[in-house]
Amino acid sequence: MGVRMKIDRKRVLVTGGAGFLGSYLCELLLKDGHEVLCVDNFYTGRRANIRHLITHPYFEVLRHDVCFPLYVEVDEIFNLACPASPVHYQFDPVQTTKTSVHGSINMLGLAKRVKAKILLASTSEVYGDPRVHPQPETYWGHVNPIGLRACYDEGKRCAETLFFDYHRQHNLRIKVARIFNTYGPRMHPNDGRVVSNFIMQALKGEEITVYGDGSQTRSFCYVDDLIDGLVRLMNSPDDFTGPVNLGTPYEFTILQLAKLVIKLTGSKSKIVYKPLPPDDPKQRQADITLAKKALQWESTTPLEKGLRKTIQYFKELRKEHPR
Ligand SMILES: NC(=O)c1ccc[n+]([C@@H]2O[C@H](COP(=O)([O-])OP(=O)(O)OC[C@H]3O[C@@H](n4cnc5c(N)ncnc54)[C@H](O)[C@@H]3O)[C@@H](O)[C@H]2O)c1
Repeated sequence: MGVRMKIDRKRVLVTGGAGFLGSYLCELLLKDGHEVLCVDNFYTGRRANIRHLITHPYFEVLRHDVCFPLYVEVDEIFNLACPASPVHYQFDPVQTTKTSVHGSINMLGLAKRVKAKILLASTSEVYGDPRVHPQPETYWGHVNPIGLRACYDEGKRCAETLFFDYHRQHNLRIKVARIFNTYGPRMHPNDGRVVSNFIMQALKGEEITVYGDGSQTRSFCYVDDLIDGLVRLMNSPDDFTGPVNLGTPYEFTILQLAKLVIKLTGSKSKIVYKPLPPDDPKQRQADITLAKKALQWESTTPLEKGLRKTIQYFKELRKEHPR
């Protein structure tokens, strides 16, 4: 990855700023010298994620639900607010769709009023259970509109539609990132995502649950790389809107991941197999040709290195909260 240019101080709003990705984004923006307003309703976000930023003179936190309008003066908006793991987004699916759709409408309305540039944290889930592999941005996806994952997948698809309509209709400066599986310290320990699941099960010496035969694949991006990609996208020329995939092109089977976690934790856990949940994508791999070309971006952290840091984080978390 190249060096990011130092830029003038901006007032930046990060919705979902107390979440896993949002907290790293706030941190990087502060490091780059900007003022950061973190807006979060703490649905899945945690104070602990941003505790180290609270005393920073350019950091401000506002408890607010993006489903309601917000009136603030900012130059840029990173719209990350939305529960991201199936356990959390399926807990209250109507609220999930509202967060993506009403939240986007409110943040786009704000961007329009104050002429801010706005970025959407969309997802590879817009490709659904893809029939094209790997997935380029030109692929329209294969999503079940009435399934259990639809509140998230279709919510984000609708958010993308809203971003592009505000761009065409109101000349808004927009950026759409399609984020693939990202992992790292500060992931929620009980959010059911595969990396956190496997690490927690391994550390507790519990059985490691693999759904299906474990041959389904995912690509895993380390959080620092992903955040660098988001900031590069925001700083890209105004005529570059995306959507752009941010993730890694390296594919691993779920079984490979389970075995690697067992190796790195030194756990005695055994792998057990359970039936695949409905609509679970069988293959997922980012085609990052566009990100490389337009943003000079690609992830550089090897899975093993990123997993070691994540395992260390969960070990410390377990010391603080042993149960
Ligand atoms: N982590 C990934 O692998 C991944 C992959 C694809 C897309 N994304 C997207 O990136 C964004 C951040 O994901 P994350 O992994 O950090 O998840 P997260 O759950 O840790 O963070 C989401 C944050 O949004 C907040 N939030 C939820 N609903 C809100 C509302 N109505 N109003 C205000 N705040 C609200 C939560 O409290 C939380 O702090 C999400 O939009 C997600 O869809 C993440």
